Amino acid sequence: MNYIKFMALTILASISIFGFTSSKEIEINIIPKPISVKIDQGQFVIDQKTRIFYNFESNHTQNIASALNNHLKKFYSFEPLKGSFSKEAKKGSIFLKLDSALKMPKEGYRIEISNRGVTIEASAPNGLFYGVQTLIQMMPPDAKKLNKIKLQMAQIVDYPRFDWRGLHLDVCRHFMPKEFVLKYIDYMSMHKLNTFHFHLTEDQGWRIEIKKYPLLTEVGSKRDETLIGSGRSSNQYDGIPHSGFYTQEDIKEIVEYAAKRYVNVVPEIEMPGHALAALASYPHLGCTSGPYKVATRWGVFDDVMCAGKESTFEFIEDVLEEVLALFPSQYIHIGGDECPKKRWIECPLCQERIKQEGLKDEHELQSYFIQRAERFLNSKGRKLIGWDEILEGGLAPNAAVMSWRGVEGGIAAAKQSHYVVMTPGSHCYFDHYQADPQTQPLAIGGFTPLEKIYSYEPVPETLTQEEARFIMGAQGNVWTEYMKTTSHVEFMVYPRAAALSEVVWSAKGERDYNEFLKRLREQVKRYDVYGINYSKAAIDK
Ligand code: ACM
Ligand code: ZN
Repeated sequence: MNYIKFMALTILASISIFGFTSSKEIEINIIPKPISVKIDQGQFVIDQKTRIFYNFESNHTQNIASALNNHLKKFYSFEPLKGSFSKEAKKGSIFLKLDSALKMPKEGYRIEISNRGVTIEASAPNGLFYGVQTLIQMMPPDAKKLNKIKLQMAQIVDYPRFDWRGLHLDVCRHFMPKEFVLKYIDYMSMHKLNTFHFHLTEDQGWRIEIKKYPLLTEVGSKRDETLIGSGRSSNQYDGIPHSGFYTQEDIKEIVEYAAKRYVNVVPEIEMPGHALAALASYPHLGCTSGPYKVATRWGVFDDVMCAGKESTFEFIEDVLEEVLALFPSQYIHIGGDECPKKRWIECPLCQERIKQEGLKDEHELQSYFIQRAERFLNSKGRKLIGWDEILEGGLAPNAAVMSWRGVEGGIAAAKQSHYVVMTPGSHCYFDHYQADPQTQPLAIGGFTPLEKIYSYEPVPETLTQEEARFIMGAQGNVWTEYMKTTSHVEFMVYPRAAALSEVVWSAKGERDYNEFLKRLREQVKRYDVYGINYSKAAIDK
């Protein structure tokens, strides 16, 4: 290190030490890290008399004010603060200002805390909501009896790097109760994650009520028993039936709850593979017409939906029709991964389809299958997203790709001007081990510790700037073969989802793992208060 650099660092260090001790400033430890935080001198105190004003009455402003009030009531000793309309900020109050004329970045917000009070402003409701989430993280985490909250005076400017900030949950391998799904969404929104990928159908269980096909839940939501131990080596079963599904009323509640937290729910209905539960319910959907059983072990199964029968496509359109009525999401996930071609090779109807449609092989048949699903979704004004196998045999014209077997699928799709969500197994699979397997509950394998997720860069270097625009963001995937309980899910997801939140929200050049860990050590105090069962593997080091 040269002398000038050394002196500069010494001076910087002494300024920050001096600043800290002289003003007793309250540390600000926000996750994901905001774009800019400027600390001012002094503190502003919220107490029971503080009022919340909003610049116009709407469901959004009232909902966001309620989010703040609910928090103060639940975790501190507050009754809801009174709120009302005001065109301008009033001294000593919290002012929520929603104004599209502010022209702030999408989902962005600004906070100013001064001796005049707190102002949070945004061009759109989701930005205002994120401003409140940041404000909450500026409050002490563990103070149930507190009825006065000191806030550090500061100015914060913040907005996300990516549009798709996703977290997935497989509720098929193990069913997760609705109450947990709601909590899962709460924890996402606190980390400014905005896309919940709800994996609803599988070989081992169909978990969403479809009125036209009641057997999907009467038969398909139940399995006789479950494999004990590793899917690679075990042949032992627990003898305990496993079941569960969400009624359409449950789904509406989940979607509405998520919307109030600015989380979009993307449903996944798997086709043509990973569909044994559907085949067990309606055997005519398979090439051999069965009989089939809801799977009791993990893996990839040869029995898939028949691509030769018209009735398969009728089924898919009927199911999607009901799904579209429940989920307002632009994107609908149709799976598309891990579909063996064995049955299609042997099936006269599938072979006939290949011939009639002039397809080259079974890969093109898979592409034909996905393209029909896409045509249906597009005709209803929606968009299709699928796992990267949908590239094989040719990508459907408007499809988005979720790149999971690495980043190559995502790169290929972006180069063809298709939108992409990055979820490579190497960095984004939260079912992998996060510490030495000897010290951990059984997991599927892999090794994806916190630091590895934190280091993930969703835009591959090989893409040009133009191609990089097609990377919508990234997502953490949570497959639950080895997670029987909700607390085990939490243990696998947190704090890894916190690291991911910074990958998808914060500025690329600002990521510093050790500095993140410092903030995380404060954040987990909040997890303790909320009752999130997180892993301490990376924190205790
Ligand atoms: C996947 O993990 N099979 C998408
Ligand atoms: Zn067939």
